[in-house]
Amino acid sequence: MKKITIKTASDIALIKYWGKKDEVLRLPENGSVSIKLDGLDTVTTVEFREDLSKDHITIQGESDNKETARVVKHLDRIRKQFGKDVYAKVVSQNTFPKGTGLSSSGSGFAALTFAATKSLEMNLSEKELSILSRQGSGTACRCACGGFVEWLDGDTSETSYSHSIQSPDFWDVRDVVVVVDEGKKKISSTEGHTLAQSSPFYSERQKRIKGKIEEIKGYIENKEFDKMGMLAEKEALEFHTILLTSETPMIAWYPGTVEVMQEVVRLREEGISCYFTINTGFNVHVLTLPEYEKQVQERMMALSSVQKVLLAKVGDKPQEVNEHLF
Ligand code: PMV
Repeated sequence: MKKITIKTASDIALIKYWGKKDEVLRLPENGSVSIKLDGLDTVTTVEFREDLSKDHITIQGESDNKETARVVKHLDRIRKQFGKDVYAKVVSQNTFPKGTGLSSSGSGFAALTFAATKSLEMNLSEKELSILSRQGSGTACRCACGGFVEWLDGDTSETSYSHSIQSPDFWDVRDVVVVVDEGKKKISSTEGHTLAQSSPFYSERQKRIKGKIEEIKGYIENKEFDKMGMLAEKEALEFHTILLTSETPMIAWYPGTVEVMQEVVRLREEGISCYFTINTGFNVHVLTLPEYEKQVQERMMALSSVQKVLLAKVGDKPQEVNEHLF
């Protein structure tokens, strides 16, 4: 049993996963498409040791909370699947704020799955790693792959996995991640998924989602940035319509979120190609091209509600690194 450290990029969904058809297996109601984000990374070190009598988990310097309990649950799943009876020490760090709608659970559970199975010397395929990661966190299913990624909805655990549509070097797209608040988001996506069907607009969304996935894959294939960006932006607004109209309405946006969205529209009017998308949090992803990145960054930093801006490029699949966290 080796000590293994894995670095995994988070991702941003262009077409979003919302609603589950199986809570336990985390089978999504619909497929989704995302871009991995090099620059928003989780680094996780795992070491299984015979001398431990329980798991010791530290995430961002904190132990014994809801998140570390979720990690223990995932380690139990891995132990059960591979017939292992040994505990682990796990230390995990993000390069970006967690719990703010920037998919830290996606990169976190993919990093954990890769590091834990490697530490146990299990030699899994990318598909198997994607399936196993999915059971820890839905978006981790996509984070197990690199570049531009599609998660197939699937009706069974074996058919719900992700694959790379294009590698990271296929197309240089940038994500200017605009942080308007670093506090924890109020909406937990785990709970949010259970409310998806209660929106009167959810069934309408589901009717069109397969078409949207095919459309966005075509735009990626042909490198049609404006078409891809516009569809991703409209999809984000549709997704938030579902949140706003669920039985318990979920209002994710802060005033700063809206300020950023309006600035994106203004930038476009000035001829700068950029488009926003938002998950369940209040921070905003602004998709753009390398030639506009600096301008977008400067304009975002000039807004009164913006705390900081993180820059991301298209990221790769999880990678093993030599610097351990303990
Ligand atoms: O993986 P979860 O349960 O955190 O769900 C995340 C869902 C969205 O971020 C809103 C959309 C997506 O596909 O990433």
